[in-house]
Amino acid sequence: MRHPFHQVQSGFGGLLLCFRKNVHFLLGKLEIEGKDGAECFSTMNKDKVPVDFLYPGMMVGGNYRVETFIRRGGSGEVWTVRHVKFEDRRFAVKVLRPGFGLDLRVVLGLLDDRTKCFYEEVQFCRAIRHRGIVEIVEWGRLSDDRSYMVMECLEGESLGDLMKREGAMPLHRVLGLVDGILDVLSAVHKAGVLHRNLKPPHIFIARQSDGTEYIKLLDFGQAIPVPAAPNSQDSQRGNVLMMSGTPPYIAPEQVKSFPSTPMTDIYALGVLIFKMLTGKLPFDSKSTIGMMRARLYVEPIDIRCYAKGIPDALAGLLNTMLKRLPEERPPSVDEVKQRLRWIFQ
Ligand SMILES: Nc1ncnc2c1ncn2[C@@H]1O[C@H](COP(=O)(O)OP(=O)(O)O)[C@@H](O)[C@H]1O
Ligand SMILES: [Mg+2]
Repeated sequence: MRHPFHQVQSGFGGLLLCFRKNVHFLLGKLEIEGKDGAECFSTMNKDKVPVDFLYPGMMVGGNYRVETFIRRGGSGEVWTVRHVKFEDRRFAVKVLRPGFGLDLRVVLGLLDDRTKCFYEEVQFCRAIRHRGIVEIVEWGRLSDDRSYMVMECLEGESLGDLMKREGAMPLHRVLGLVDGILDVLSAVHKAGVLHRNLKPPHIFIARQSDGTEYIKLLDFGQAIPVPAAPNSQDSQRGNVLMMSGTPPYIAPEQVKSFPSTPMTDIYALGVLIFKMLTGKLPFDSKSTIGMMRARLYVEPIDIRCYAKGIPDALAGLLNTMLKRLPEERPPSVDEVKQRLRWIFQ
């Protein structure tokens, strides 16, 4: 049976829907693959989505005047805004694409709460209380029903932009950045939240007025509470009906629509560190499907094949972080931290 899915999207740059458990995977730009008799659809291509949802001078939430465009993300657009009464302060607003933010269960008629998706992103950010999490000052819906979120405006650049400019980075620079990422991620997990979509655009290197920098972790659009038990309802959320993550950084359990755990974020972090040090991914595949299939069936490439001067112990740690089975990875972010400290003390 077909459902009116065309208005729902995932962070994959298109819609990814799996209607049954044990679905393998699908997508890219309208690439579709079903396995085990699963029924899968991909309907929307990000390139076809209209851009520029906001415009300079437009009012958001009654008090914020839109100024300049910052960036388009997987789910919407980010612009700078200024409070009409406190003109000296700039904020950033993220507005979700029309139709985005609808929980798939709402579309399927399984759940009757349209505000849930964005509300949860805000709640997660507010619950974590760490300087590496963006402060959200207001959120709501525009008159045409699109969700918006007003937050502190960050100065600096995303790791994605930095990596595009610099390619592979020297070990000491990577270790400095990773230290900051581990710090935030540890706080996220300790607050009982899984991010599930770690990737360079979501790591922001924020610059303070004195020139020092620190890491902010962005975009909790795919976050869920750490599941109380592996097969609890929370652990299944977003897995069965809509796959989480982004293909180059996705963990095998996300590909297979199995429950996420803290080790899901640790896997993405392993891919991220690999990419920072080499400019390459640990799986040699160009297509989205190939990339996802590789992490189910192929061993990751040894980082020493791509980069010189990587200590054996670091290569070993990355290899463990990229283990196919979550239980074979380091069990916590603090464990990764400790092992790095031990390697580089
Ligand atoms: N508070 C902010 N201040 C400045 N830039 C931001 C802020 N939030 C996001 N951005 C920029 O916008 C990009 C997209 O943000 P993100 O939250 O990932 O949006 P989406 O949910 O649409 O994927 C980020 O990679 C970053 O460059
Ligand atoms: Mg994003």
